[in-house]
Amino acid sequence: MSSATLVELTRRTLQHARAGTVPLAADIGRVPAANYYDPDRWQLEMDRVFKRTPLVLGFACELAEPRSFKAMEVAGVPVLLSRGADGQMRSFVNMCSHRGSIVVPEGTGTARRFTCPYHAWSYDNEGRLVGILDRDEFGSLEVDCHGLTPLPVAERAGIVFGALTPDAPFDIDTYLCGYDAMLEHHEFASCVYVGSQTVDGPNWKVAYDGYLDFYHLPILHRDTFGPDYSNKAIYDAWGPHQRVTSPDHRILVLDGLDADDWPADVLTAGVWTIFPHTSVAGFKVGAEGVPGGGRMYMVSTLFPGDSPDTSRTIQHFLAAFEPSEQLTELIEAQQAFLLRVVRDEDYYTGNRIQRAVKTGAKTEFLFGRNEAGGQRFHGWVDRLVAAETSEDFANLFVGAEVAFQR
Ligand code: FES
Repeated sequence: MSSATLVELTRRTLQHARAGTVPLAADIGRVPAANYYDPDRWQLEMDRVFKRTPLVLGFACELAEPRSFKAMEVAGVPVLLSRGADGQMRSFVNMCSHRGSIVVPEGTGTARRFTCPYHAWSYDNEGRLVGILDRDEFGSLEVDCHGLTPLPVAERAGIVFGALTPDAPFDIDTYLCGYDAMLEHHEFASCVYVGSQTVDGPNWKVAYDGYLDFYHLPILHRDTFGPDYSNKAIYDAWGPHQRVTSPDHRILVLDGLDADDWPADVLTAGVWTIFPHTSVAGFKVGAEGVPGGGRMYMVSTLFPGDSPDTSRTIQHFLAAFEPSEQLTELIEAQQAFLLRVVRDEDYYTGNRIQRAVKTGAKTEFLFGRNEAGGQRFHGWVDRLVAAETSEDFANLFVGAEVAFQR
């Protein structure tokens, strides 16, 4: 079913490429400029978007081994992902039950036990408290009630989704609106996790707008990859999650080919975003005379910083092939290139927008009829911010629209 959808959407994009056309939204969209810097609005976005939605926290291939773990801070919450000896992924607040120390320093690895650096209480991979220093002297304690605090977590399409609020309603399948079946085509679960790098940027929405925006590609990126790219975009949505493709010359390679022979990398082309903070982009690595290579992915997960003015993006790199030593140089060069593009072009511009928007000189930002994706993204953020209760929040995703531009 999802394969048929990929073919159908590719055929639609091919028709637009041949005709030199692009579908448009009904009207121009307008977003209050203050939404990008107002501290009250920002706090609502933290509480009602980032503290409630399932976020992309890792990858099955990054935490493949039993007893592998990943400790990180996400929107101010210390999180510990832990794959148990049973293979099951669990997530916890990375905070000791004794007096609140962060138990595991940020990073990844494998471990049988997590030992708190303050007074050496220890926990197993399933978050159970299994060791209390000088237990007889400490006093009697129900250890079963003093494990690490669990957080909601689930794996779909090779991605680890987690929420930041214990006991929060967490219905990952309703939230994904069928998008996980589309993401399966990237086969992240069988990829190799190559590594990550970090970029600091402006307000999370200033930064995220850029991932949905092809309008700027040949302009802002004129000195890097831009000249080869069209500024036209087509947006397909599964609830709040959007795939962006371009009816540009690349898709014309399909002309004359039977749909059964359309290559996978063309069928899955474009930027795949996962609301509210993730973007997936594929590229090829390889060179003549260098054996191996193939498709790689940059999965960018974007998190708000400590204030409305800052964000941090982690660029994760996944390879659909076994990266040989001979390919290392090529992969590292591509990583350095993508870091430079995002840091020196996208976020350089974003940081300047962040300074300018706070002047109050403009009261609204505009999203054209050719920028339907940005319009939809801000509409969803607004709806989540307006949803006061957990029930209101959950209801937003029940039967959410799956909409393809024609
Ligand atoms: Fe962790 Fe005391 S705070 S053992």
